[in-house]
Amino acid sequence: MTYRLFEAKDHASIYQRYRFTPPDELKNIILQYLDKKKGRPHVLAVDLGCGTGQNSRLMSPHFQEVVGIDISEHQLEEARAVPGYPNITYRKGTAEELPFPDASVDLLTAASAAHWFHQSRFLAEAGRVLKPLGCMALLGFSDHDTTLRYQDCGERLRHIYDEVKQVLLPYTSSQVAVADGKLEELYSAIPFPDKERVEGIKVNSSISVRNLVGFIESFSMFQAYKKKDPQSAEDLLLSTQKRFLEEMGVTSPDTEIEQELDYFCVLASKPQ
Ligand SMILES: C[S@@+](CC[C@H](N)C(=O)[O-])C[C@H]1O[C@@H](n2cnc3c(N)ncnc32)[C@H](O)[C@@H]1O
Repeated sequence: MTYRLFEAKDHASIYQRYRFTPPDELKNIILQYLDKKKGRPHVLAVDLGCGTGQNSRLMSPHFQEVVGIDISEHQLEEARAVPGYPNITYRKGTAEELPFPDASVDLLTAASAAHWFHQSRFLAEAGRVLKPLGCMALLGFSDHDTTLRYQDCGERLRHIYDEVKQVLLPYTSSQVAVADGKLEELYSAIPFPDKERVEGIKVNSSISVRNLVGFIESFSMFQAYKKKDPQSAEDLLLSTQKRFLEEMGVTSPDTEIEQELDYFCVLASKPQ
């Protein structure tokens, strides 16, 4: 089964605006792993489930060529509209059937995406296209462990965030739990003996109330809710923003909250 929860045009533009670029700490971990296992040159990186291209752009300075692959044409259109990355090509396709010859890819990445793939078909395809000693890096963050801070009301803000997720629970795909579980099962299923899981990469940043609400809007479960009941979904966003601002005692949605995300990465290297 292919999950098609990111297809709508307006969902893609929300993605472009509100999704996070993976942190440099994680990028460095991935590149150091690739250097240690396979070494240079870094010729081709393929970013699977690239969405609007945040992770593809992060990889672009480090490879001769980056190809972003996604099943959603609207996501790819948004990615292609970002100027200044001449070595990136975006192609429509699936992680389970990759348009590359055997043993041709140095690095396969998937940022907040591998939980949507068909596990065994994706792993077989990764084994086929990776060069000997080539690597895969499946990264993401577990939203269970996101911390919010603003003066003394961080826990109450997190409580509001959890209540929103509770409203969206009936619209939440079981695959989201796979990501929150840091890809445990997928990690176990990787057939390469050389693999590791890096966890607890805590990344702090500021996010405005407006953008935090935008991030909620980007959730696949929010979009499923909106499809079923557009008015209630719109009301949920408005009331959530209002509740955040009231709790913080401010009026501007540009007010920044400190956010700590808990990133992880599954790393594996194909045998020689
Ligand atoms: C949660 S988004 C992540 C997008 C981006 N990598 C990021 O970090 O923001 C997941 C993306 O995976 C894509 N996707 C889902 N299943 C896929 C599959 N089987 N093959 C390729 N892409 C897929 C979706 O269209 C969506 O754009």
